Amino acid sequence: MPFAHITGWGMYVPEPILTNDDISKLVDTNDEWIRDRTGIRERHIAREHEFPSTLGVEAAVRALQIANLAPTELDLIICTSSSPEYIFPATACIIQDQIGATKAGAFDIQAACTGFIFATNMAAQAIRSGSIKSALVVGTEVLSRFVNWKDRNTCILFGDGAGAFVLQASDIPGGVMSTVMHSDGSGADSLAILAGGSRYPASELTIHEGKHFIEMDGKEVFRFATRVMGRAVLEALEKVNMTTNDVQWIVPHQANYRIIETAAKYLKMPLDKFVINVDRYGNTSTASIPIATVEAIQKGQIKPSDKIAFVGFGGGLTWGAMVVEWTGPIPAKKHVHPEQYRRFARLRSFLRRVIRFIEGVFSRREL
Ligand SMILES: CC(C)(COP(=O)(O)OP(=O)(O)OC[C@H]1O[C@@H](n2cnc3c(N)ncnc32)[C@H](O)[C@@H]1OP(=O)(O)O)[C@@H](O)C(=O)NCCC(=O)NCCS
Repeated sequence: MPFAHITGWGMYVPEPILTNDDISKLVDTNDEWIRDRTGIRERHIAREHEFPSTLGVEAAVRALQIANLAPTELDLIICTSSSPEYIFPATACIIQDQIGATKAGAFDIQAACTGFIFATNMAAQAIRSGSIKSALVVGTEVLSRFVNWKDRNTCILFGDGAGAFVLQASDIPGGVMSTVMHSDGSGADSLAILAGGSRYPASELTIHEGKHFIEMDGKEVFRFATRVMGRAVLEALEKVNMTTNDVQWIVPHQANYRIIETAAKYLKMPLDKFVINVDRYGNTSTASIPIATVEAIQKGQIKPSDKIAFVGFGGGLTWGAMVVEWTGPIPAKKHVHPEQYRRFARLRSFLRRVIRFIEGVFSRREL
């Protein structure tokens, strides 16, 4: 049975930064309160012309560069987002088209902020089963468009950004070792965007009632997160007969510094074993784990052969953890330039649209 290694990683955040002081001009809050209660100092906010696919493509190309893998080699793309571009088509298909992943199947999964762990697990399982050789997993968010900038309970928390992993099959042991996935739909009301789906389709009333914005019971989510995080890590470690002593790094979902602190206490682990960057990005939902991972690698914290536990939680309610032996890119003789495929991808996409249009004209004539 092949092993599923994480061989590439990339992140991208939009340039504009919104500080706590900026937010204090919008709602009754202040920098000290936000830092004290959440650990967040600033977050990045997408510009008007940026969408989840825009950010996702940048992160994906960077991950492919590290993996030294051409997009045309990808068998599968899974995108996960709490702020997808559309209800359908899947954001994954837009990314597939734009990076030029001509043979990849592409789809989205939705598990709120736990999405990246669930999606990476799905990709790893497909590789482990032998049915595919390579996969791209993208977590990408433009959550700022679903934030009610008049609600001080939520608007302080979220930020925009994207992160991506490339997974590849290898006979060498390592890579994704174990995963646990959990859900509890009885807590669905605690964190939600209620309107825009088929239960509350967009209407004057849904807009008037602010139902297209993130709604959250902050205290309830806080309690839930602190309850499940540590337990999920232990469960994932137990599956591979490991303990917290065996892991070099915990990469938690970046929602709130205090939540991470509580998890560290529960696990009896020092906080400096936790990768934390919530101060600079806020909660980027599905993108937070890969963004934190990429930064930890760039800082020289995460190194090959390290054992790492990823842990996430979010709306649904959902939560999960994954234990990974970090390896890095599979050595290869040839050097590929994934970014160069984007130009061809644009041309290919344009030509396919033209062909589809011409086919449409001829088929109408035949009718
Ligand atoms: C949202 C959160 C930061 C609020 O912190 P808290 O300590 O629970 O704060 P509370 O909701 O108890 O509010 C305490 C007081 O601060 C006020 N307050 C709330 N937001 C505020 C803000 N941005 N600035 C200043 N005061 C604020 C409240 O109105 C309340 O005032 P009151 O006592 O006069 O009623 C915290 O509950 C949290 O982080 N929850 C988890 C959210 C999360 O991670 N969601 C995403 C999961 S993927």
